[in-house]
Amino acid sequence: MIFHKILINWYLGNKRDLPWRKINDPYRIWLSEIMLQQTRIEQGLPYYLAFTEAFPTVFDLANASQDEVLKLWQGLGYYSRARNLHETAKLVSEELGGKFPDNYKDLLKLKGIGDYTASAIASICYNEVTPVVDGNVYRVLARYFDVDTPINSSAGQKEFKALAAELIDEENPAIYNQAIMDFGALQCKPQNPLCETCPLSNSCLALKNNKISLLPVKLKKAKIKKRYFNYLVFLSEENETILEQRLGKGIWEGLYQFPLLESKSLIDTEVLVTDSHYFSVGADHQQKISLYNETPIVHKLSHQHIYTRFWIVEKGELNGDTIPLSKIEEYPVPVLIANFINEFELSDY
Ligand code: ADE
Repeated sequence: MIFHKILINWYLGNKRDLPWRKINDPYRIWLSEIMLQQTRIEQGLPYYLAFTEAFPTVFDLANASQDEVLKLWQGLGYYSRARNLHETAKLVSEELGGKFPDNYKDLLKLKGIGDYTASAIASICYNEVTPVVDGNVYRVLARYFDVDTPINSSAGQKEFKALAAELIDEENPAIYNQAIMDFGALQCKPQNPLCETCPLSNSCLALKNNKISLLPVKLKKAKIKKRYFNYLVFLSEENETILEQRLGKGIWEGLYQFPLLESKSLIDTEVLVTDSHYFSVGADHQQKISLYNETPIVHKLSHQHIYTRFWIVEKGELNGDTIPLSKIEEYPVPVLIANFINEFELSDY
C-alpha cells in the first residue's frame, strides 16, 4: 500500500476526538491551529474551550479588549500569538465581513498566519492540496525516509516541505494532513515510538538503519541567556499595589507585572534600594522591605532563563498606577507572577 493510504487507514482507526474536528468553521479551525503551535493538544484544549465559550464568533473576539484576550491566553505562552490573533480577528470582522480567506495564498497574508497555519486551514476547511509540516510531520518524514538534514535549517525546511508536497493525498488533503499529524503525535512519538505496532515499520528506513532515536536532527540553539528579575510587590495600608503593563517588544508584551528591577546578578536589599528609581528622590522612607524568596524561581523560556525574586515593600501610601489587591486577578500576568499571587494569597490580603 502507498504511504498516504497507510496513514489514512491508521487515522480512521486511531484519530483523536477533538472538538474542532466536528465542525468546519474556519474561525474555530484557525483558533485551534494558532493555539496548538508549540503547545501539546492536552495543554491547548482547555484554552480552546474557554476561548470559544467567551468568543463564539470572530466578531466577539474582535470586540474584546486586549486585556480580556491576554487574560484567557494566560499560561499558554508566546503572547505575540494572542496579540496577532486579536489583530487578525479585527481585520477579518471589519474588512472581510467576518469571512476568512478560502485559500492558502490569501490566508498567508494575515498577521500571525505562516506556512503551517495557512496550509492547515486551507486543507482542513477548503480541501486545498497544500501539505502541513509541523513538528510531528518532520519527525515522521525524517524517520521514514532517514533524512538527517536539520529540521530547523532553511535547507531542511525546503527539503521537508517538498517531500510533504510529494506525499500528500490529492484526493483527501484534509484527512491526510490531520492523519500524519496524529500519527506523529500518537504512534511515531518523539520518545518510545510504537514501532512494534507501526503500519509503516516494514518500509521505515530509520528503523532498518537503527536510527529512530537519532532522528529528526535539530541544530543546537544559541546559548541560553541568564536574566535576573526583581519584582517589587508594593503593599499599602489601603490594600493597594502597583502593576505596570509591559510595553515594547520582548517577552510578555502587553501583560502586567509588578514594578521590575532587572539586575546583572542576584542582589541584596541595599543594591535594590540604590538601583531602583522607586526608592529614589522624594520617596518617603517609611517602608519595610523584605525578600519573599531567597532562592530564585527559575522560569525557563526557549532562549533565556529568568531568575526571579519577589521583594515585599510595605509602605503607608503609594503613588502612581495603584490597583486594589482585590482586583489583581483580573489582570493578565505572566504565569510566574500568577503563581506568586496565588501562593501569597495576595487578592485576600
Ligand atoms: N496539531 C495541531 N493541529 C493539529 C491537527 N489539526 N490535527 C492533529 N494534530 C494537530
